[in-house]
Amino acid sequence: MNMSFDVSPIGATFGAIITGLDARSLDDRGESDLKAAFAEHRVLVLRDQNLSADEQVAFSRRLGPLYRMPYVKPLDDHPDVIAVLKEADEINVSTFGSWWHADFSYLEEPPVFSILQALELPPKGGDTLFADMCAAWDALSDGMKRLLAPLKVMHSGHIYGTRLASDGSKGRMRGVQVSTGHAEADVERAHPLVRLHRPSGRKALFCSPTYTTRLEGMTAEESQPILSMLYDHFARPEFTIRQRWQDGDLLMWDNRAVVHLAVNDYDGYRRLLHRTTVGSERPVAA
Ligand code: SIN
Repeated sequence: MNMSFDVSPIGATFGAIITGLDARSLDDRGESDLKAAFAEHRVLVLRDQNLSADEQVAFSRRLGPLYRMPYVKPLDDHPDVIAVLKEADEINVSTFGSWWHADFSYLEEPPVFSILQALELPPKGGDTLFADMCAAWDALSDGMKRLLAPLKVMHSGHIYGTRLASDGSKGRMRGVQVSTGHAEADVERAHPLVRLHRPSGRKALFCSPTYTTRLEGMTAEESQPILSMLYDHFARPEFTIRQRWQDGDLLMWDNRAVVHLAVNDYDGYRRLLHRTTVGSERPVAA
């Protein structure tokens, strides 16, 4: 497709780096090209943006209605922006999003797009990993697809809250204030295991070790072999990409089609990103 900017694929199946686009001055053609590139690649990295919080909000709004994240304290002066922050003196703490997940998948209508901009980066480490849930689905055998296609999985915020509170020997982060223990977040909600990625019409696995508790109608023990197999499967190197952040990177991903995790390997250094969220949608079975 002839785009108004340059697109370089990152992984074999998903992810792309966009250059030659200024997110501050997106015209109608740029917006429609960006949406087309996003539908195809599912993770986009826009280089050299350096947006202010206001500019990031304005850009995010071009992609759809802003989604105000529940349970996470936003910036005082920007209720639609969250600072994803770990301070240099926060040593051996659990961090925001450091296990595979799609954002807030336990909600009835989880958010669709998430957008992160790098503001301050450690000299090494602090990467973000993404897994392509469409490619992971496609690669399963026909027999496994037949078995999984009709299933639903239960999601709950409960496991995340428990891990955050006591991740083994780790303390709790203070840079991002997440409030846990809400009854409506901790109930189990059923979502299709195989979800439609509307923009492309593709099928995507929709489960994660952060929020999925079990298969609907089964116990956690009975579900564990299948879920563990899926977690190992989608995290295979050929389905993953790694974002090595550069100053000014603005990265967006589609929670309907990818899962992600933040690598917590940069103790002793400050890392700050601004995060906005766009749209929400009840997961639809593919
Ligand atoms: C997140 O899950 O939003 C955090 C990702 C990151 O810090 O890299």
